[in-house]
Amino acid sequence: MSDSHNITPRDPGFEFSDDLPVNWHSANPVISHMYNGLSVTFPDGEKFFVDSVRHFRDEITDPNLAEDVRRFTIQENIHSREHVAYNKYLAANGLRPEPLEAGVRFGMNLSRKLPKRMQLAITCAIEHFTALFAEVLLSDPRALENAHPDIANIWRWHAMEESEHKAVAFDVSKTVDPGVGGYLRRCLAMTVTAINFNLISFFHVLYLLKQSGDLFNRSAWAEAMAYFWGKPGVWRRVLAGIPTYYRPSFHPNDRDTDALVKKWRAWYADAVQTS
Ligand SMILES: [Fe+2]
Ligand SMILES: [Fe+2]
Repeated sequence: MSDSHNITPRDPGFEFSDDLPVNWHSANPVISHMYNGLSVTFPDGEKFFVDSVRHFRDEITDPNLAEDVRRFTIQENIHSREHVAYNKYLAANGLRPEPLEAGVRFGMNLSRKLPKRMQLAITCAIEHFTALFAEVLLSDPRALENAHPDIANIWRWHAMEESEHKAVAFDVSKTVDPGVGGYLRRCLAMTVTAINFNLISFFHVLYLLKQSGDLFNRSAWAEAMAYFWGKPGVWRRVLAGIPTYYRPSFHPNDRDTDALVKKWRAWYADAVQTS
């Protein structure tokens, strides 16, 4: 079980000033829009994660896990709010994220019609993706080294908190949906989610590139391919962490990120909290 004291909701209140560049990462629209496209999924996506866990709050008898759920809920609600502000900055820069947001909302509303244990299994799968992505961002300085510091900080803060609460949905699922049935449901959810998450992320990048007029920017694509699949290979490393999810004994804390989170908590206290 995860330790409640490892989950700390923070309220950073990031500001998105008008002079932030839209190609904020490496001056590269493909890399920037991969992150921007993910941001578009967060407000409605994270509401879904929270609801899928809270459906079961009356079945959680372990006080530590109940406290984890409470802290997870606060963290995800603040993430949603900050990414609403982030997405307004995208809109202010003419990227028109609204149709993408409507698509995410439609997909989430469809998912809400699934059985509640399957909704929770979907959340477990996406939380594993976000935990892997967070680990790459926090452990490899190259992942955000050429990014605008203000937006890099948002991703670091979000990554740190995703690492902190990475086991909460999974622990709830193991509690309320145990045994072979729960295992198979989580495997099915991961398979469907892995396909959908990659397709949707790619579609979001294409849409945003079309909006910014960079769809056929070959040099940006070439540099981005190296970033995602070569070195540092951000997406390659996320995908490399997926197969272990299918192990029957899998648990998110198998990947020990405590030292990493500790390091970034010190960063947050120094660079964000005091600013
Ligand atoms: Fe989040
Ligand atoms: Fe999360």
